[in-house]
Amino acid sequence: MTTQLFLAGEEQIFKLFIEQKNYDQCIILADAKSNGFCLKPLYENLSFLKYASLITIPDGEYNKSVDILTFIWDELIRLKASKNAVLINVGGGVLSDIGGFSAATYKRGIDYINIPTTLLSMVDASLGGKTAIDLQGIKNAIGVFKHPEAIYLNPIFLNSLPNHIKISGIAEMLKHALIESLALWEEYKLFALEDFFKLNVIQNALHVKRQWVLKDELDGKERQALNLGHTIGHAIESYALHTAQPLLHGEAIMLGLYYELEISEHLFNVDISIRKDLKQFIIRFFPHLKCQHNYKDLLPYLIQDKKNDGSIRMSLIKSIGDVALQVEVDPILLQKVLMANE
Ligand SMILES: NC(=O)c1ccc[n+]([C@@H]2O[C@H](COP(=O)([O-])OP(=O)(O)OC[C@H]3O[C@@H](n4cnc5c(N)ncnc54)[C@H](O)[C@@H]3O)[C@@H](O)[C@H]2O)c1
Repeated sequence: MTTQLFLAGEEQIFKLFIEQKNYDQCIILADAKSNGFCLKPLYENLSFLKYASLITIPDGEYNKSVDILTFIWDELIRLKASKNAVLINVGGGVLSDIGGFSAATYKRGIDYINIPTTLLSMVDASLGGKTAIDLQGIKNAIGVFKHPEAIYLNPIFLNSLPNHIKISGIAEMLKHALIESLALWEEYKLFALEDFFKLNVIQNALHVKRQWVLKDELDGKERQALNLGHTIGHAIESYALHTAQPLLHGEAIMLGLYYELEISEHLFNVDISIRKDLKQFIIRFFPHLKCQHNYKDLLPYLIQDKKNDGSIRMSLIKSIGDVALQVEVDPILLQKVLMANE
């Protein structure tokens, strides 16, 4: 992985980096919200992008779809984008996932750069090269690996985010701490809300992800540690997408972490105090989330999970910083855990 990281304050070297690539066209991809809220601060900080072409797509997980992908490809052709163009994704994780996938497939692959504008995409989705769209309600059903050339991290974009969206990124930071180290977990427990939005804290969280990706870029083994909370979390997110109360990715992952910690207790005697701490985070930051899920609702999505081979497998922990990969979980235990919390 050669992705370069540029931080707020490093705009000049970021500009130089892009100039040295000799791209013949810079094309910004934004969604309706990032277009409305982020382009002004983007042009203020990176004025050289003012004259880049712009493609705008509708926002939200529902639009991580084949239809929108086709729209982006059509727009790239309309803009006469050559093999030497670069796509600059300005938005959250949905935007970088579909933007990355468009770039990876257009003319057999053009470069792309991520400028994340949500906390979740700053600490997680912008890095690691997993690009994807959803299909038939299944998250990330179609995708390829292609790393961004660069990431530009600037918390200024967080200022326009509605509170619940801003906070949802904390779920992935907590996951990073659970798979990484007790010290980081203890540090987060002492954080005031605003601490999570500081540049050095965001950079550190992204660094944790980077280390896991570097161990196993193609997700064959070690990188699957990053899936903690995601087997159940993705199933909850996919199910909720088709209800009157869709959940943000981070919100679903928070619930997934909760259930998967309880399964870790059953299988590896993990200390219940960790789940109690997580519950405190839910009470503080996600008070609207309810642990009320029905096994039958989630089952179709659990079975479709990419990580699974017919059985239900998860990344769990044995203790903080000690991950157990591809653990087969008995459906009866899963059912029991979900029912216990209904
Ligand atoms: N590829 C990966 O490694 C990876 C990792 C984690 C998550 N993901 C994916 O990321 C997605 C979730 O990302 P997300 O939580 O960023 O959601 P999102 O991209 O849907 O953004 C949430 C909402 O905030 C809006 N928005 C974005 N920036 C804004 C800003 N600065 N001000 C105001 N509004 C803004 C968006 O338009 C959207 O409506 C999921 O699809 C998930 O699967 C991918």
